[in-house]
Amino acid sequence: MEIELELNDTPRRLSVRTDARLLDVLRDEFQLGSVRDGCSVGMCGACTVLIDDRALSSCLTLAALCDGARVLTAEGLASGSEVDPVAQTFARHRAFQCSYCTPGFVLAVKGLLLSDPAPTPEQLPDILSGHLCRCGSYSRILAAATEVVKP
Ligand code: FES
Ligand code: FES
Repeated sequence: MEIELELNDTPRRLSVRTDARLLDVLRDEFQLGSVRDGCSVGMCGACTVLIDDRALSSCLTLAALCDGARVLTAEGLASGSEVDPVAQTFARHRAFQCSYCTPGFVLAVKGLLLSDPAPTPEQLPDILSGHLCRCGSYSRILAAATEVVKP
């Protein structure tokens, strides 16, 4: 079927199979390598993208159901020399080792900011609990996320 997306602020039209995962469409059709296939079953958060400002697992999302949606991946967090403040904060805290999990964590925090204009650190456990970091960078990730949302 034909679908239209606003992908990283750019209108896109494409043909997808009705059973195609958004994860595969983003990686294979658009070469968006920040969307990672960690577990494929909604357990690790590595494939997180924002769909209409909500952080969701693209491995569990059918691309066909995103017709008309705005989709943001980590590639959309930078434009020229401008980098999204959430990503900047993660970089300043060096909140990663291999960075495989980083796009998912950053987009989860970005999604919180977009859904709540006055977020608090108490909301972070819920937001981040579905995200795994095999490098064990949790303390730095939490420090970065806390700085982003602190009042
Ligand atoms: S790849 Fe989607 S949650 Fe792990
Ligand atoms: S930094 Fe390597 S998995 Fe998180």
